[in-house]
Amino acid sequence: MSLKLGETAPDFKAQTTDGEISFHDYIGDSYCMLFSHPKDFTPVCSTELSRTAALKPEFDKRNTKIIGLSVDSVGDHSKWESDIGDVAEHFNGAPLNFPLIADNDKKISELYGMIHPGELDQLTIRSVFIIGPDKKIKLIMTYPASTGRNFNEILRALDSIQLTADHKVATPVDWQHGDDCIIVPALSDDDAKGLFPNGWKTLKSYLRLVPDPKK
Ligand code: BEZ
Repeated sequence: MSLKLGETAPDFKAQTTDGEISFHDYIGDSYCMLFSHPKDFTPVCSTELSRTAALKPEFDKRNTKIIGLSVDSVGDHSKWESDIGDVAEHFNGAPLNFPLIADNDKKISELYGMIHPGELDQLTIRSVFIIGPDKKIKLIMTYPASTGRNFNEILRALDSIQLTADHKVATPVDWQHGDDCIIVPALSDDDAKGLFPNGWKTLKSYLRLVPDPKK
């Protein structure tokens, strides 16, 4: 059974480059991005990790912890770490500044459905899970091994997830923080008047635009 949005992210204990963690304790009152990599000492993974390290201040601003995973040992992760720092300047990156889980026995990869045998036999593909402070899964992304992810897109999605958790809005195509939002269809015009006293622009009866409530 694959994990689904809205389910509680399974808890686990793991060895990481920052020592042993208990996943739910690690998340604490934050959001968390858990993301997997096929293997240590592989090129695309090295670029992704250095780029994510450079974006860590943006994740911090969004109260979001970062934790990576691959099916190698802490010893291998630690050796790989210096390579990640070495290539950083070529990819607008930075040296590693968040923990990497050593999932040598593949228990966590199996638990989270990160191994897709038709794509990569024994290795994890590029999974992303965004988990909320309530430990529920808010977003799942799955990329093939050969395609590096765009972490700015993940930040954009985080902005939407956090905004729509607090306000009765959804975000339209290509939305970025500050752009107009959509009043959720479940809210009647009468109820919307209380929440959006400055009114809205109606493009269709079901498509009502309001300024970003967090602008
Ligand atoms: C990479 O990270 O470069 C990679 C890993 C496994 C398969 C293909 C690419």
